[in-house]
Amino acid sequence: MMLNWDDFHAEEKPVARQPAPPPAQEPAPAAAAPSAPAAAPAARAEPAAAPTGAGRGSDDAPVSDAVARARASLEKMDVSEGVAELEGAAGRVQVDDKRMINCRADLNQLVPFKYDWAWQKYLDGCSNHWMPQEVNMSADVALWKNPEGLTDDERRIVKRSLGFFSTADSLVANNLVLAVYRLITNPECRQYILRQSFEEAIHTHAYQYCIESLGMDEGEIFNMYRELPAVAKKAQWGIQYTREMSDPEFKTGTVETDKALLENLIAFYCVLEGIFFYCGFTQILSMGRRNKMTGVAEQFQYILRDESMHVNFGVDVINQIKIENPHLWDAQMRDKATQMILEGTELEIQYARDTMPRGVLGMNAKMMEEYLQFIANRRLAQLGLPEQFKGVENPFPWMSEIMDLRKEKNFFETRVIEYQTGGSLSW
Ligand SMILES: [Fe+2]
Ligand SMILES: [Fe+2]
Repeated sequence: MMLNWDDFHAEEKPVARQPAPPPAQEPAPAAAAPSAPAAAPAARAEPAAAPTGAGRGSDDAPVSDAVARARASLEKMDVSEGVAELEGAAGRVQVDDKRMINCRADLNQLVPFKYDWAWQKYLDGCSNHWMPQEVNMSADVALWKNPEGLTDDERRIVKRSLGFFSTADSLVANNLVLAVYRLITNPECRQYILRQSFEEAIHTHAYQYCIESLGMDEGEIFNMYRELPAVAKKAQWGIQYTREMSDPEFKTGTVETDKALLENLIAFYCVLEGIFFYCGFTQILSMGRRNKMTGVAEQFQYILRDESMHVNFGVDVINQIKIENPHLWDAQMRDKATQMILEGTELEIQYARDTMPRGVLGMNAKMMEEYLQFIANRRLAQLGLPEQFKGVENPFPWMSEIMDLRKEKNFFETRVIEYQTGGSLSW
């Protein structure tokens, strides 16, 4: 598809942009510098303009001391230093130079792609873009404020879900930007990780938006991950099993440290993202299917779809590390991976019992247990490990249906929305 620049420009002009920030907070530099140097903020060390004749410009016009110093500094710059920093890896990158971890090739060269699936996931993530404010919360607010609106058991589920996820997604985002991004040495995967990081920010925003809309006690909700045992245990497990990776001094490059990273990635993608979301999500989505808290449920629907892509990306990364480093995937590592997935499943089952002391919303803790065992089997199989729960079936097949829905088909049919981004835009 060809884009005509004039059309593009014409489209752009009338669009109302965000209002400019109030001048008291953020003086626009372009306006302040040339015409009114005396009004520059006091914190500025140098008066911006006011030529003093201390230096000469390229056309021999006098320039300010600051401009002269900037030019002199650039003339002295030694470019060989930056090249040396790339440790001899500054040549043109070939596909075979690329590796998921411990890569020595230049990470600034996005192409040629080695992992096309990572780039495709980045594009898919962008096509699924959504924002929390698009979801109408008014029916939820009315229901939540009506003393007869929900049962105590239903209220508990809403509070626990927002309590766990509001902080869990911050934990996930911290791990992503502070650890996973640094340790995965491949630019197309990093591109997806950047997209995922923004999605995690949107998720945290969505929970905050729900909490605020419903007028909940923010202190109670945001501290649940520390104060409520069934929630705190999951958070603690996540912190403990991503400890190595979260250490800013942690480096890969030995068998021991590479194994530590692989373990941490399995904990992060397969358990934190791949199991710990499932009980709460099933509960909230079941509520939406019963026409209760449909705004919250719609937010969770979009989050779940993002999360299922995060898990699939993580599984692909982990399996690629295994292919490139088969010595890491020994019997001990396979046992450890199995154990982590089983521990995560057990914690999620405990969370199900805690949040559902009796049947609610057409489900109960026993059914959730079977569902979580079904999910655990799936995670094990994705890593090439034997399933541990024989004969379990999915008691909630509608969950898979929700996960696979495209954005424009809203499961709860509260409204139809569609994002068209990038290449899918038609002008
Ligand atoms: Fe998330
Ligand atoms: Fe996620």
